[in-house]
Amino acid sequence: MAITYYKRFRMEVDLEGAYATPPLPPEFVWVSWDESLIDQHAEVKYLSFRSEIDACVFPCLGDRYGCQRLMREIRRKPGFLPGATWLIAGPDGYVGTVQGVMDRGPIGAIQNVGVVPSYRGLGLGRALIRRALQGFQSAGLQRAYLEVTAENASAVLLYRAVGFRRAKTLYKAVDG
Ligand SMILES: CC(C)(COP(=O)(O)OP(=O)(O)OC[C@H]1O[C@@H](n2cnc3c(N)ncnc32)[C@H](O)[C@@H]1OP(=O)(O)O)[C@@H](O)C(=O)NCCC(=O)NCCS
Repeated sequence: MAITYYKRFRMEVDLEGAYATPPLPPEFVWVSWDESLIDQHAEVKYLSFRSEIDACVFPCLGDRYGCQRLMREIRRKPGFLPGATWLIAGPDGYVGTVQGVMDRGPIGAIQNVGVVPSYRGLGLGRALIRRALQGFQSAGLQRAYLEVTAENASAVLLYRAVGFRRAKTLYKAVDG
């Protein structure tokens, strides 16, 4: 079977200064983590990722049940941080999700950030990242990282705009 190698960047940021709660456009509200929302996070993740490059790199992201499994795995991680895990709700339901965990270091790790396609370009992705960074800071962390597929240009630009810088280049091998 052919193997495809996807170039990925590890990007890191120092958590300097105090992060305020990012404002949202009118009609959108923050929804904090609650156990009962696990499937809503999974559904927004699925709707955000299913047609994107990361669904090739991580096939579970292109599958509704794969996203449910992934959300349960993230929730079970010992460093799962409710304060860095948020939904954004809009007039028609949930439209954005981010999840954060504390990794060894300790360092904050953003797991997945996704905004459903019809609500992109409104600043919600940037707000989700900032809200996760605020959660890391409240947990006493001084640094955060994430990994992003190099060809996901809009995500790389978003992370750079929030202060993340490339720390390492990685290659992810995918079968088929
Ligand atoms: C990446 C993603 C979360 C961005 O969400 P968004 O709500 O559209 O982003 P924002 O409106 O907050 O944009 C913030 C910044 O990101 C960059 N950006 C976002 N979309 C962009 C695009 N299509 N082209 C260029 N830059 C873009 C810009 O720097 C933008 O700042 P600006 O508006 O001041 O120019 C969204 O596109 C998404 O869910 N993609 C699919 C899932 C995914 O790949 N997630 C990232 C995995 S690592």
